[in-house]
Amino acid sequence: MSNSGEAELLHTFKGIPFTTRSSPELLKSLDTFDAREDDVLLVSYPKSGTHWLAGVITKLYNTQVTITSPIEFGDISQLEELNKLSSKRIIPTHLDYNMLPPNFKNKKCKMIYICRNPKDTAVSMFHYYRDNPNLPTVDTWTAFFDLFLKGNVVCGSWFDHFLSWEEHEDEKNILFLFYEDMKKDLPKVVKEITLFLSLNVSDSDIQDICKKSSFSEMKNDTEKENSDPTHTVCALTSNRKLIFRKGAVGDWKNYFTPKQNIRFQEIFNEKMKLSKM
Ligand code: A3P
Repeated sequence: MSNSGEAELLHTFKGIPFTTRSSPELLKSLDTFDAREDDVLLVSYPKSGTHWLAGVITKLYNTQVTITSPIEFGDISQLEELNKLSSKRIIPTHLDYNMLPPNFKNKKCKMIYICRNPKDTAVSMFHYYRDNPNLPTVDTWTAFFDLFLKGNVVCGSWFDHFLSWEEHEDEKNILFLFYEDMKKDLPKVVKEITLFLSLNVSDSDIQDICKKSSFSEMKNDTEKENSDPTHTVCALTSNRKLIFRKGAVGDWKNYFTPKQNIRFQEIFNEKMKLSKM
């Protein structure tokens, strides 16, 4: 971090760094949040493709649904706003499984977890740290790489986040998706989402939705402000324009030195030794 004043942009709750855009009071009251059985949660570690997935999902419904602000965003009044919504709620969150309001678990709400190669996630997050005034600045990629590996970044360790959710992978109400699969064959993943959400969407509509959800279309929409530029599904910014950077698989190769790659791989192998990934 470049100076100590910026450290005030973050605070820690239950050992996890949050920005001050998530108030401690709100985080404390999450435990008593009242979920509805038809809520759908859209879960991710930051920079994993949350906006992409949210863009796809909203286009799949022909009934009224609201993509809400992230459940961990704002002060306590934000939770009341969520309670007031009369339409079906699609609720984004970067919370790890252990911090999720228990009511979502008890009511077996549907949850979609999107995951991305952590190396690309780290590079994407590095840029987010540089461009997003709500996050502390980092001077160099090398400095950020260390912070990321130590889990000393907003939302904590990528490994802990992923593992907390992966433990529940077999539960029927949780669907795991991968950014890389979406890049490879978006219609196939979208079909999987429609089955999981019990939505009846024709193959030609799926093709159409995929076209409208390409990186260039979504970026253009945001630049032309066809979509509300202040509506993001990430508690870390209200500026959608910060989201659409490169949208590629493998950008990490342009940043990781061979030594960093070996170090990352060693930590990955150690932390993920019990993972199926
Ligand atoms: P990059 O920074 O690597 O470009 P999130 O929405 O979770 O914040 O994730 C942001 C990342 O998803 C960014 O990655 C962004 O470019 C990428 N992204 C957003 N929309 C996309 C799309 N339609 N297709 C591919 N990648 C997309």
